[in-house]
Amino acid sequence: MAAQRFSTLDDMHDIAGKPVLVREDLNVPVHDDGSVSDDTRLRATMATLTELADAHAKVLVLAHFGRPKGHASEDLSLRPVAEALGKVLGRHIGFLASPERHAIDALANGSITVLENSRFYPGEEKNDPALVSQMAALGDFYVNDAFSTAHRAHVTTEGLAHALPAFAGRAMEAELRALEAALGDPEHPVAAVVGGAKVSTKLDVLTHLVAKVDHLIIGGGMANTFLAARGVDVGNSLCEHDLTDTANRIMDVADAASCTVHLPYDVVVAGEFAAGAENRTVNVHEVGSDEMILDIGMAAVEALSDVLKTCKTLVWNGPLGAFEIEPFDRATVALAQTAAALTREGSLVSVAGGGDTVAALNHAGAAGDFSFVSTAGGAFLEWMEGKELPGVKALET
Ligand code: 3PG
Repeated sequence: MAAQRFSTLDDMHDIAGKPVLVREDLNVPVHDDGSVSDDTRLRATMATLTELADAHAKVLVLAHFGRPKGHASEDLSLRPVAEALGKVLGRHIGFLASPERHAIDALANGSITVLENSRFYPGEEKNDPALVSQMAALGDFYVNDAFSTAHRAHVTTEGLAHALPAFAGRAMEAELRALEAALGDPEHPVAAVVGGAKVSTKLDVLTHLVAKVDHLIIGGGMANTFLAARGVDVGNSLCEHDLTDTANRIMDVADAASCTVHLPYDVVVAGEFAAGAENRTVNVHEVGSDEMILDIGMAAVEALSDVLKTCKTLVWNGPLGAFEIEPFDRATVALAQTAAALTREGSLVSVAGGGDTVAALNHAGAAGDFSFVSTAGGAFLEWMEGKELPGVKALET
């Protein structure tokens, strides 16, 4: 398992009274008034932060918030997020705007302190060695618990791992283990669901997956580009006509690799992209010139459910239809519920992540039953592209 290539909290010794720098992802969505609108990422920090604090370390949380590009700004301060974190963890969380070692030495053993937005430092995103040394002097150990920032080679995500004894936190460890089970060394047959609006944003994902999985299920707007490549008239649907050759190439590679590409043969069409729009389910060859495809049809969903029933592993990224507007959420909801049921029965290992995926699975009431749902966006996609993530690589022993 990948996690075994990393040192974890189990390998940390003699940490009582010592400062431990812990990279977390506190880049949470907020309402207009600054309050946190989704605390999933805050909850994900709990295992690591409480374990270290309970071992009497002085826990120092490193994180970024937004993209301030090296300039301090009040509205991107982590101070309010630190308060929200305190509520989630049910304990006092300190805050240091300009951390220095003497102030850190004075902190109580077992305390948890959030340090100000790491991206206020101009050197953070440049992985500046001077900033690495400055930050490394603040702690005796470095823990990276933020898989969702591991695609960035920044001081707090990568550089520090080379300057201090480095360990994977509990959330990072769980994520690496789940991802390894899904694509690193999975049980076959493996199915991948890839949805979303555009092929252009997921070209590398598709190219990587066709060589890895047994079934590639394509949904969302990107399915239209593949249908068009197969000569289907997709009418007024979202479609990247300039990428039909690319889509054909991907299907050829899939054929050569014995990966079956599943495209819908019935679809739900409407005259406009609007909730409750009048719609009909048609064969893909019957889409009217003024109609747009907004979801996969139920006959196709049933066939896809049958495919999942033959699989041992599923990796899911992106919705199958315009799930954010009813009734075009039906295919996503139905297939997600099938995957959830198969996971509950123990016949499927299901891993999902990236962008809209968590929202889609939550909407389907299915997220809780998946084996693992990653809250990572860009990092999950880069992992699906088969890329090495610098923050993960730097932790390897
Ligand atoms: C995220 O929100 O996906 C991570 O925190 C990374 O943020 P970034 O895209 O600004 O690097």
